[in-house]
Amino acid sequence: MGLLKYISLRVRFLIKSLFYLQYMPSAFFYSRKRDRFEHYYLPKPSSESFTLPGKLLQATHHKQRVHFEFEQATLEIDFLAPDLIRINWLPGLVPIAYAVANHNWDGAEIKIEQAENNWTIFSDGLSVAVDIDGSITVSDQNQQVLREELPPQRQDERWIHQAQLRSDEHIYGLGERASSLNLRASHSKTYHMWNSDPGGRYTPGTEPLYICIPTYLGLHGSGSYLVFYENSFCARFAFDQLATAEFEGGSLRYYITVGKPAHLLDRYTQLTGRAPLPARWTLGYHQSRWGYRTEAAIRQEVRAFQTHDLPLSAVHLDIDCQVEHRPFTIDPDRFPNLNTFTQELANAGTKLVAINNPGVKYSRQSNLFLEGQILHAFCTYPNGDLVVAPVWAGGKAFPDFTNPIVRAWWSRQYAYLLDVGVAGFWHDMNEPAAFVSWGDPSLPKVAHHHFEGRGGDHREAHNLYALLEAKAAYESLQQYRPEQRPFIVSRSGWASLQRYAWTWTGDTASSWESLRQTMSTIVGLGLSGIPYSGPDIGGFQGNPTAELYLRWFQMATFLPFYRTHSSTSVVPRAPWSYGEPYLSIMRRFLELRYQLMPYFYTLAWEASQTGAPIVRPLFWQDSTDAALWEIEDAFCLGDALCVCPIVQAGASVRQIYVPKGCWYNFWDDALIEGGTAIALTASIEQIPLLVRAGTILPMEVGSQFILHLYPPECGNSKGYVYSDAGDGYGAARLDRFCLTRREDDLEVTWETEGEYNFPYQTLKLQVHGALVSQAWLDDQDWSMDGQTLQCTAFQTVRFAYSAGY
Ligand code: NOJ
Repeated sequence: MGLLKYISLRVRFLIKSLFYLQYMPSAFFYSRKRDRFEHYYLPKPSSESFTLPGKLLQATHHKQRVHFEFEQATLEIDFLAPDLIRINWLPGLVPIAYAVANHNWDGAEIKIEQAENNWTIFSDGLSVAVDIDGSITVSDQNQQVLREELPPQRQDERWIHQAQLRSDEHIYGLGERASSLNLRASHSKTYHMWNSDPGGRYTPGTEPLYICIPTYLGLHGSGSYLVFYENSFCARFAFDQLATAEFEGGSLRYYITVGKPAHLLDRYTQLTGRAPLPARWTLGYHQSRWGYRTEAAIRQEVRAFQTHDLPLSAVHLDIDCQVEHRPFTIDPDRFPNLNTFTQELANAGTKLVAINNPGVKYSRQSNLFLEGQILHAFCTYPNGDLVVAPVWAGGKAFPDFTNPIVRAWWSRQYAYLLDVGVAGFWHDMNEPAAFVSWGDPSLPKVAHHHFEGRGGDHREAHNLYALLEAKAAYESLQQYRPEQRPFIVSRSGWASLQRYAWTWTGDTASSWESLRQTMSTIVGLGLSGIPYSGPDIGGFQGNPTAELYLRWFQMATFLPFYRTHSSTSVVPRAPWSYGEPYLSIMRRFLELRYQLMPYFYTLAWEASQTGAPIVRPLFWQDSTDAALWEIEDAFCLGDALCVCPIVQAGASVRQIYVPKGCWYNFWDDALIEGGTAIALTASIEQIPLLVRAGTILPMEVGSQFILHLYPPECGNSKGYVYSDAGDGYGAARLDRFCLTRREDDLEVTWETEGEYNFPYQTLKLQVHGALVSQAWLDDQDWSMDGQTLQCTAFQTVRFAYSAGY
């Protein structure tokens, strides 16, 4: 680093430290007030002992509900579908169904058998045995036991729920975690449910993070299941010989489904909602930085992308663009022509995304504050005082999004930024975060919330805060700009966030460890129902070396949210920052990302239909192969690609256990036999990338569509491509391809459904892994250019090949 750069960084650091100093008094007073109120109003730890349900007294059933009366508790088991049950232990505060998207289930035919000490309920999809003491065993339809629960324990408002874990059982999910992918393999093995801002920079092991979701997937030798606790209270989960879930309040209401991982995510997202198909531009590259203060600065950045011949889909405005960090503001002095500016950017193919924080400045000079006061929109202490906590410039009041009137009021605020062409919103600091001198950096646990009229406190509302903010925003964008699909990125959230928003991995350190961590965090989010996430490429806090930024960039090329972002106190970062050869390599990866757009878009469509995450763990390929259960330094993009990022400085080779079956090396078509560990080389120009045999990989270059055909080992394989106008809710089409490998020929067939016209002028079929000697298009001889055939349409193409594997 040059001396000048070093001095400028030091000066920036000093200014930032001084900036934080100004919060010290208000953070001190807020922390003190919070503690006083919590001391006075929070329920005191109970001296009561834990109660068990006692003995089962009687059981009755009506349609798909079976009702059990125990001495000290009531249990209801509802069969929502043959393989999905809801288990409800009472008493307890019934949750408001914020996370449940589907209330209409067909149910299931059930059969009940009673033995001396237990009742077993059978459906076509699973069976549940309830013992006389309240233990519950869930098995699949083949009577393979998947989960064995102990009787729950209750103490006042608290619940403890435990299940036996098998010695080979792996646990995944719980939302966003900086832990190993298998939550049972981490050092601490204890996870908290309390959305938290770790404060500027986090590293692997930091717990908890911004999105805590009480959903996990258990996988062992007998199969897999998923459990979702519909309880937003502060909780602790631990995994050793037992899986323990301990809630501070609420009811013990949870859902269990069984099956292969793909089926589990399908059911879970049928219950909690699927991520809607985003506009196509959102899957391109985004550039961001905490530090673009003016229209001119952004114009210069966008021009630099053009000058360097780099595509750019969106630029993000951080809080520097606002007036005193106030929500829904963009400073008119520094952005004097926002309307024409967004148009100018749109002409360059770039959208503008604006940040928004939920805290409203506590000031009579703020209209938003005055409006909110009139509506009683803000969270209050139990004595009615407004909760005012410092975040950025001064004290903030916090909208209570559990109040539908407040959500409607908040929704209206997005309208004028939409009018001036802002394309999407980035919700930050919405855990909600507050600056404190000690203790929890959020609102007091005793803060009052509306909860649709039934009332409640922040212990229950905290984890729902960002989810309901995202709901307000999503509904706003649907209402005020109905012809475009909403784009919301939210730092925090809870179960079902996928219905409204994307997320990113927050304030990571710029280190190789964080690059590696990104994969487990993003795959874990996907297994918790959230398919759209990505990192700050290069890390948020710190200055990555050129190699680290490049390796991070290469990995992120295959992640759904593809954005460089960094803190205000680090050296500005963009693909050209490190000169050559890095710039050229990043350009090639950017180009590859845009070429893969039909594949990404099809995966996005698939996520909207089935809940399948876009980025998947390797065990998604074969959940019976235990060798895949621990792999966390590689991931699959859809089912076709296996991405093996480089996670060490100076590394040019890496080991990977390849899932069973045949794979092709994307870069040179070399054939790889899976089911074994191999070493793959990765010069600085590439990261190892494998394509599953049988893949029909859709890519595009301009208006040219290319289907890359990777022959299956034998028999046939299928692939499909979804297309539409890229935004809005108009016509769509699905192109289905089938690739059949016979002894000496390879055949592709093409079928189409949907009204949307095929969006490409020409089409190429490129055959990999076999030397084509002749080709026929709908039974006519067709010339080849090497391994490539060009045409406009076909029903069947047949290739004779003279060599292959
Ligand atoms: C915290 C966010 O995580 C980060 O991405 C953002 O740059 C800063 N807040 C400033 O808004």
